Amino acid sequence: MSATPPPLRIGIAGYGVMGKAHSYGYRVAPLLRRLPVTPVVTVMSGRDAGAVAAAARAYGIPETVTDWRELISRDDVDVVDICTPPGTHAQIATQAAAAGKAVLCEKPLAVTYAEAAGALDAVTRAGVHNAVGFNYRRLPAIALMRRMIDQGAVGQVRLWRATWLSDEFADPATGWDWRFDRAMGGTTIADLGSHLIDMALWMAGPVDSVCAQAATFIGERAFEGGMAPVTVDDAASALLRFESGARGTMEVARTAVRRPCDFTVEVNGSQGTLVFSYARLNELWYGGADDDIRLYGMRRIRAEHPSHPYAAQWWPIGQGVGYGSSFANQAADLLEGWPDAPWRPDFADGAAVQAVCDAMESSAASGRWVSVSEVLASTL
Ligand SMILES: NC(=O)c1ccc[n+]([C@@H]2O[C@H](COP(=O)([O-])OP(=O)(O)OC[C@H]3O[C@@H](n4cnc5c(N)ncnc54)[C@H](O)[C@@H]3O)[C@@H](O)[C@H]2O)c1
Repeated sequence: MSATPPPLRIGIAGYGVMGKAHSYGYRVAPLLRRLPVTPVVTVMSGRDAGAVAAAARAYGIPETVTDWRELISRDDVDVVDICTPPGTHAQIATQAAAAGKAVLCEKPLAVTYAEAAGALDAVTRAGVHNAVGFNYRRLPAIALMRRMIDQGAVGQVRLWRATWLSDEFADPATGWDWRFDRAMGGTTIADLGSHLIDMALWMAGPVDSVCAQAATFIGERAFEGGMAPVTVDDAASALLRFESGARGTMEVARTAVRRPCDFTVEVNGSQGTLVFSYARLNELWYGGADDDIRLYGMRRIRAEHPSHPYAAQWWPIGQGVGYGSSFANQAADLLEGWPDAPWRPDFADGAAVQAVCDAMESSAASGRWVSVSEVLASTL
């Protein structure tokens, strides 16, 4: 009988939706793969003592603290996992790195490129493992899409296209919270767009410049008996020019009625097309220029075959995976090579995404094309 691998002790800051998703991921990861360590969440932080205690009980986490600084300073925490709002990320990550802890940070890495670059600098100087929670990369169909692009299935990428439609902000009666505050929640470009931009950079390479527009349709929201101003966009769209010469378009919206979390990614290359739609997340559509013309159209790939990324570790073909699987895959990917293998996507990837977000925000504000190099130069 082989011994249980030694524990890798994790402290999770934040107990909301992502605190739950990450807790789930660490529990399931050892069921999927043989890991050199056993992930154990030792402590969770939250400002409301009662609420964080209730969440920790439900997630099976033995201890709680009410300040993330306390979580960072504990001897029984090797990895700080940041599941708090974006405006807190850079500060928590920087302090965790200074304490010598590995850091996994939810997306977006920060709310500005300057903050993201500061966090990147901190983890680089400290030499600690670092990763950003771009979990959608770990869905089998998205991972397969990237692999097929790499293997030449679409030839040279010419067009990249993505949308993310949600109705999170559609109801004017939804009250104000941190998501409506730019300094804490970041823009819709950074919130939803960061996932799409990560996939764009991963699949089509660096972005050269962007031209964007953004709008806020509901300018204030109920808060503590009064009204508070909304300082983020409800929706935005952008044209992208990639360094490779490829072109792209992207639209994000949190005011699309009856669209819950509908995102799509499409790539058109010189030799083929790939289409992913999150509503059918175990599928990928593919058509190649050399396909039999009598079968003109696209074929639906079931991204569940054991030869496909992640699929062999999950259920028998035909059963599919869901959102939660991406967090289990994330935990397994990060811990599989512990402590030697670097983590990806890392803070450098997160900062690169944030630079494109900043370029889009700057373009939307100024009404002109903005190059990513302008953003990078402005923080030198
Ligand atoms: N990868 C994904 O699929 C995904 C999905 C949703 C959210 N997110 C990201 O995860 C992060 C958290 O989002 P969520 O949906 O879990 O939010 P949430 O509102 O459900 O939970 C946020 C947590 O942070 C705490 N918090 C709030 N303000 C804080 C502050 N000023 N200082 C310290 N803690 C504070 C809250 O008490 C709560 O525990 C965000 O960065 C968000 O963009 C990622």
